[in-house]
Amino acid sequence: MSGWVLSDARIATMEGGYGLIEGGSVVIENGRIAWVGAGAVPSDYDGWERVSAGGRLVTPGLIDCHTHIVFGGHRAREFELRLEGASYEQIAREGGGIVSTVAATRAASDAVLIEGALGRLDALISEGVTTIEVKSGYGLDHETELRMLRAARELGARRAVEVCTSFLGAHAVPAGSQADDYIDAVCIPALRAARAEGLVDAVDGFCEGIAFDTNQIARVFDVARELQLPVKLHAEQLSNMGGTQLAARYGALSADHVEYASEDDAAALAKSGTVAVLLPGAFYTIRETQAPPVAAFRAHGVPMALATDCNPGSSPLSSLLLTLNMGCTLFRLTPEEALLGVTAHAARALGLDDRGRIVPGLRADLAIWDVETPAELAYRIGFNPLHARIFGGER
Ligand code: NIG
Ligand code: FE
Repeated sequence: MSGWVLSDARIATMEGGYGLIEGGSVVIENGRIAWVGAGAVPSDYDGWERVSAGGRLVTPGLIDCHTHIVFGGHRAREFELRLEGASYEQIAREGGGIVSTVAATRAASDAVLIEGALGRLDALISEGVTTIEVKSGYGLDHETELRMLRAARELGARRAVEVCTSFLGAHAVPAGSQADDYIDAVCIPALRAARAEGLVDAVDGFCEGIAFDTNQIARVFDVARELQLPVKLHAEQLSNMGGTQLAARYGALSADHVEYASEDDAAALAKSGTVAVLLPGAFYTIRETQAPPVAAFRAHGVPMALATDCNPGSSPLSSLLLTLNMGCTLFRLTPEEALLGVTAHAARALGLDDRGRIVPGLRADLAIWDVETPAELAYRIGFNPLHARIFGGER
């Protein structure tokens, strides 16, 4: 026997919406879903161990598809400065912001980076997260960018969770450098080295007035293409710089933040099959007032994902459940859209077609919840109803 049966479950398969199955079972074989449905389980599985979900809700394991959980230090002082009236952009331009986390990250040992990230990762895992994306981008020098990615890989070795890495060397211009020089002399060589070491699953960038313009990002994306790595982009977070259109031109997996994206941008994303990753934690923290164009994304059929953006500056948030609530309350997503955003659509934002839904053939990454309906996951605030989590078929 190489598997077991989870029975007596209310299953949100997330296939085309909640895809609810009442009184259902999931057959798990060799870490994959072998069968899912209502009523009697096929006789092929007679005699397999049965575990009752006790009528609880079962969803795919949650996927946090945009995080910066590896970093040194914290930015509580910046939080105070914003409360005294400074803006996120002002702080960044005055040498705070991303660049201040860079100094703390460079100064941190590997062990300190990993320990800090594990605390945040454990909070996410306790809420049913089974896959997480982790970015570099607080090194901005060759060695520290690679150290961050190695730390990210180490997280996956230390915990029962899958880590997808994104190289974000084009996150900010380090103090004392010039943007073009930095891209050519540091960012691109570090990307090549990280790729050679097997540390990179995707390439990301920050296209913004306080970071890089579309030409600079395009140079990084050209190298990603040459290295056969998918791309994604922090685009249209604080202004419209054309990042979304650029991402679409490169067939990006995702365009992230996208508060300032236009109707044309939504059409471009739809055409390229790019996911819009919405990050309500950053919107909330920096008290952004322009919400992403959710209605345009809906109208054009752009898949929307939701993620924590967990980072020390714009989104010190390590709760994907709270993110669901914020996606609904701040961006007016439906709870169904929100749950798709941390399951099926989040998988797509990472280019993973083996997870995010409960259908045969996919990984048996599941979360079992003490709730009656899936909408409860988004509706509650500061409450964690996780009953159990299954990673690759393992309880
Ligand atoms: O996703 N937008 C750029 N990067 C991060 C912020 C990082 C920081 O402030 O440290 C984000 O919001
Ligand atoms: Fe981010």
